[in-house]
Amino acid sequence: MDASSAGAMESLRLPAGFRWGAATAAFQIEGSTTADGRGPSIWDTFTAEPGRVIDGSNALVAADSYRRYRDDIALLADLGATDYRFSISWPRVQPGGSGPANAAGLDHYERFVDALGEAGIAPLATLYHWDLPQPLEDAGGWLVRDTASRYADYVGLVLDRLGDRVGRWITLNEPAMTTLEGYALGTQAPGRTLMLGALPTVHHQLLGHGLAVAAIRASGARPGSGPIEVGITNNHTLVVPASEEAADLMAAGAFDLIYNRIFIDPVLTGAYPDLSAFGLAEFPGVEPGDLEAISAPLDFYGVNSYNPTYVAAPAEGSEFALAGLPFEPAAPPEGTLVTGFDWPVVPGAFAELLVGLHRDYGDVLPPVVITENGASYVDEVVPDGDGGLAVHDADRIAYLDGHLRAVAAAIEQGVDVRGYFVWSLMDNFEWAQGYTQRFGLVHVDFETGDRTRKDSYAWYRDLIAAQAG
Ligand code: BGC
Ligand code: BGC
Repeated sequence: MDASSAGAMESLRLPAGFRWGAATAAFQIEGSTTADGRGPSIWDTFTAEPGRVIDGSNALVAADSYRRYRDDIALLADLGATDYRFSISWPRVQPGGSGPANAAGLDHYERFVDALGEAGIAPLATLYHWDLPQPLEDAGGWLVRDTASRYADYVGLVLDRLGDRVGRWITLNEPAMTTLEGYALGTQAPGRTLMLGALPTVHHQLLGHGLAVAAIRASGARPGSGPIEVGITNNHTLVVPASEEAADLMAAGAFDLIYNRIFIDPVLTGAYPDLSAFGLAEFPGVEPGDLEAISAPLDFYGVNSYNPTYVAAPAEGSEFALAGLPFEPAAPPEGTLVTGFDWPVVPGAFAELLVGLHRDYGDVLPPVVITENGASYVDEVVPDGDGGLAVHDADRIAYLDGHLRAVAAAIEQGVDVRGYFVWSLMDNFEWAQGYTQRFGLVHVDFETGDRTRKDSYAWYRDLIAAQAG
């Protein structure tokens, strides 16, 4: 590292006790999709359908982490990570989505969590990262209320087995993406195109969250688990209107409702926001008592965020206007840097988002954990001059540095942020983008499974080490 980046690093400091981690999700890394009795999930089905995944790939092997998890843990240990956020696969634990636990699936996670513990890394387990058992989708998926109860039962099975080892739980990962991409637009599994007809999936996921929180609390702390901490992970974006004109401001407000607020308001305030902008008098599917369950107090609030979203009023006759949507995407300001995904890189918007959450939700906002943040770039593997391989991913380092500085700035402004998890520990199966987008600190050769530490890995390791000094 040159002197200037070392100097810059010195000034990036987060509070003592801050948690430093990396994140992954089961379907994206594990592979071994039929091992030890695992059942099919909606993502196995979706990836098998021609045309769904941009490069025609699937996750049958992915990063092969089901078999190579000890390599992953060694990478985390060398990184100096205090925590690892990983997800547990529902179809491994309950292959059909209901009924008794599949012991072999739970055995795997028990071995995995024990190995993590031996390496001194604290687990932060996500209970649902999009891999709904296919039989539940066949019965209506998140469109039906029963799925919330099925989910809570599954959570109970996980707690029965792992509750003496894991204390920190995330119920759902990004219910917004399941609703918007999975059921409204069809760009992710299960590939439904219901537009506003997807709204019941919001409520059923959040109800599942509420029931899961109760199940986790009922299970209680056990020797080895440490204190129980429960949270949810929502995906948030700062919504930026294309101009200060009334029509664009209204469009931005409507987008903020459907992307951010219908997923956070019920959890933190016990009420859905007014959806009259979408012609709805009340939120579909709500029954007495649901909102009390959904708004049960949490120990932390997980925020995933990657970029701001620029929004304008829909042009007359545009596909958005024709679909009855009160907004359409707008271009970022000229000159805005973008990632490999074309996502705008605007660290200031990340600070603004966090400060806005604190301002808007005040005392009902639990301590925040950044459960995902990171960037995909086209990474080139080159010889390192020592007979090995290297990836010089300066863009990713700049992204992470900028966004961690934004976290530090938000903390200065009073936001209680407790930890940060890079998405992702390693390159993996990027959903409908297949293997075309790499987010890892570690490069994965998907032919051989070989792992190569990128420059960003060394940068993050040095940054974590510098915090202790
Ligand atoms: C906005 C809110 C939004 C929240 C979550 C805040 O900055 O003001 O309207 O719900 O961010 O994205
Ligand atoms: C998801 C991850 C995904 C990442 C990058 C988040 O929406 O939780 O699974 O890989 O963003 O797209």
